[in-house]
Order: sequence, then structure tokens, then C-alpha cells
Amino acid sequence: MNVEILPMTLNDIGALMEIKNHIGWNQLDADWKFLIEYYPQHCFTAFSEGRVVGSATGINYENKISWIGMVMVHEEFRGLGISKLLMSAVIDSMKDCKCIKLDATPAGQPVYEKIGFVPEWCITRMINTEFVCKTRTVDSRAEPVWEDDMADICRLDVEIFGVDRSCLLRRLLLEYPDLAFKMTDSYGKITGFCFGRNGHKYRQIGPVVAGNSLDAFEIFKAASACRGDNSLVLDVIDAHADFVDAMRHIGFSAQRPLLRMFKGPNDFTAQVAQYFVIPGGEYG
Ligand SMILES: CC(C)(COP(=O)(O)OP(=O)(O)OC[C@H]1O[C@@H](n2cnc3c(N)ncnc32)[C@H](O)[C@@H]1OP(=O)(O)O)[C@@H](O)C(=O)NCCC(=O)NCCS
Repeated sequence: MNVEILPMTLNDIGALMEIKNHIGWNQLDADWKFLIEYYPQHCFTAFSEGRVVGSATGINYENKISWIGMVMVHEEFRGLGISKLLMSAVIDSMKDCKCIKLDATPAGQPVYEKIGFVPEWCITRMINTEFVCKTRTVDSRAEPVWEDDMADICRLDVEIFGVDRSCLLRRLLLEYPDLAFKMTDSYGKITGFCFGRNGHKYRQIGPVVAGNSLDAFEIFKAASACRGDNSLVLDVIDAHADFVDAMRHIGFSAQRPLLRMFKGPNDFTAQVAQYFVIPGGEYG
């Protein structure tokens, strides 16, 4: 069987969405477009006899961490080495980058272990398809994010995530301003924030950064209260057992685990104590 790995283009999105929907992932056309437009050198599509059969995408955060995502192969074409070809193309495209990371599904984990990725920490995807939307209370300490806040938010995010991903945060504010909230201390300094986006099946809340789990929960409540839809998803870092419990208490349940893995020197680690919810496995 002839397989070609080519740079991903906007024309591939329709077929990639079909494979992705079959797997049950949550991304929209807009997510593929963002990755292709900002990081075209790191995004690849696998073709067999002219048919789209798989993908792998990448993001380069300042040549410090590159992020691999959207590794998927059409069910009929699995076990033929296609993900290996895709991984080798995307890793080659990241030669100048010190460390490569990804969030592995249970299906992906053995593929990545074989090529030298090692575990960092665990994440649980939590969903609630009957979320009861409560109006934000007047005494909520979470406030909407404005454009003027972004310099401070991006600075805080570098401290917590480890590298600059302002490009992603700015896109989330631009496209989903009503899902962006911040917390400030008594001096007006921003101590936490949350962004969100629409998805194919669920509205996704994340990233959530906060000084403690009470603040994280408060910011989450503000973001979840602002729309009427009732299917929500969050990828919560397992280290936050009390936040996970609070989510369970309001009807969220674990859908599947993700394992954060890396290859290369892990010099830019996240401050997990303040990092509660990731924006999604394809972004970090
Ligand atoms: C994970 C996935 C991308 C693998 O694609 P694939 O093209 O079938 O994988 P390959 O044939 O390239 O296999 C690569 C290697 O991993 C191994 N491997 C693949 N799936 C495996 C599994 N489920 N268990 C154990 N080993 C596995 C293969 O044996 C092969 O090993 P080798 O190098 O010794 O030959 C595919 O199963 C898929 O799309 N799954 C659903 C989406 C998903 O979860 N993606 C991962 C996101 S993190």
C-alpha cells in the first residue's frame, strides 16, 4: 500500500473531520484552521491512493517546547505503520526545538513509548452532558477578561505553563470573549484566568489557571454560567484531587485518561500547583 505524508492544507479539513468525528473527538473546523494557518510547517496529512487516512499536527512554542496533537489514523488503515510515518514527519519538522510534548490517549501511548516519549503527569477528561447552568452570582469574584488584561494574563501563563502560548490565548479571547474570566487579588493583580471554546460535542472550558482550587472553581463557574448549552468538557490535571471532587459533585464524570508525555530535556515544566485545566490535548 502506497502512503504519502504531505503538508496539511485547508482542503483536507472535511475528510479529517470525518475521521475525527468517527473517533469521537471534540474539535471544530476552526481548530484545524488555526493549526494549519499558524503552524503549517508542523501539520501533516497521510494519504493512501489519494484518500485522506490520517493526521498529525504540531505547535512550536518558542523553540522551547513543541506540541504534537491530532495524531489519528482511519480505522481501516491502522496497524500499517501510518502513525509512525506521521510522527516521524512531525518530529523532523521540530528539529530546532529542545523538547517535544503531547497528551496521549490509551491508544496512542504505546506508539509514543516506542519512539522514546516518557510520562510526565496524568489528566482526566471530565464531561457533563446535563449540566445545569446557574447564573453567575452577583458576589462572584471572577470578572470578564478584556483585551487590556492580556499582557498580564500572558505573563502569568508563561510562569505557569512554562513557555509563551499567547497566540492561542489571544485567539480564544477573540473568538469566545464571553467564556474568558479572570481573578484578581486585593491589589488588582491578576492571579488566575480561564478561557473556553465551542466544540463539536461539548463546550470546552480550559485552560484554567488559579492560585488555589477554590479560585479555580469560582472561575470555572463564571465561564460555565454564561451560556445556555448543557454539554461541557474539561481536561483536568489529576494532581488537583479536590477540584476533581468539586467537579464530580456538580455532575461531571471521568470520560477517559490522558497521559502527558515528553521527549528531550524537560527544562520548561508547568507549575502544576496553579495549572488546573488544560486547553485540550492538541494545545498543551
Ligand atoms: C493510535 C493510532 C494513531 C495508531 O496508528 P497506527 O497507524 O495504527 O499505528 P502504527 O501502525 O503506526 O503503529 C506504530 C507502532 O505502535 C504499535 N501500536 C499501535 N497501536 C498499538 C496498540 N493499540 N497497542 C500496542 N502497540 C500498538 C505498533 O505495533 C507499532 O509498533 P512497531 O513500531 O513495533 O511496529 C490509531 O490507533 C488511532 O488513530 N487511534 C484513535 C485516535 C487516537 O487515540 N490517537 C492517539 C492520540 S494521542
